[in-house]
Amino acid sequence: FADKYLENQHWVITAGPTREPIDPVRYISNHSSGKMGYAIARAALSAGAKVTLISGPVALEAPIGCQLIQVTSADEMHQAALAQATDCTTFVACAAVADYKVANIASEKIKKTNDAMQLALVKNHDIVADVAQLKDKPFVVGFAAETQDVEHYARGKLMRKNLDLIAANDVAKENQGFNSNDNALTVFSSIDKTEIPLANKQQVAKQLVALINQHYQQKHKV
Ligand code: PMT
Repeated sequence: FADKYLENQHWVITAGPTREPIDPVRYISNHSSGKMGYAIARAALSAGAKVTLISGPVALEAPIGCQLIQVTSADEMHQAALAQATDCTTFVACAAVADYKVANIASEKIKKTNDAMQLALVKNHDIVADVAQLKDKPFVVGFAAETQDVEHYARGKLMRKNLDLIAANDVAKENQGFNSNDNALTVFSSIDKTEIPLANKQQVAKQLVALINQHYQQKHKV
């Protein structure tokens, strides 16, 4: 059926934030709610795909019918993503992964004895870039959350991370991007770009899933 156009495809989707522990009670994170990634999972499921959703800590119900893998840190998400990505047709990286983690996590709660303190950070693995390096790589779609020069930075990430597509959102605009119910995307391939105008994240996800599949079919046509 045309409405089940993703039958026989397996999508792996990352969603939500990661948490990078500082000590047993504190962490570094961001404002991702998981809404965009969960909406993509629902849209792919209703188009007939098998869906694995790798999610950071969020306050959302898992879409019915998906396999949910819950993780907390970027390292855990990296491990889960690489394990799942070897067996999927399409990988969508919607998670807001922390770029850095704390170099030395304190084993006890840090006391506020000093007036100032410094945290040493080290870079996390780039999950979507590592998936795109796999020998049998799936069709790989990244996101770009930018506050300025959206096209310039999004195209840079598309090339540098070896992605098939990148969906860019301007997260400096009000009422879209992080934690809002609506979003607007510009989706770049190496040769073209497509606008998905501001709408509810579920409607945006439906259009994005159809667009990803168009590019996927084009890449795999014999
Ligand atoms: O969750 P919501 O509240 O609904 O908000 C949605 C969103 C704004 C989080 C989402 O639309 C979005 O933009 N997700 C990507 C956020 C992000 O971290 O973007 P980035 O430009 O920093 O990263 C670029 C790409 O690399 C992303 O696909 C990201 O998942 C990936 N990445 C980044 C760092 C890292 N260590 N590993 C990665 O895989």
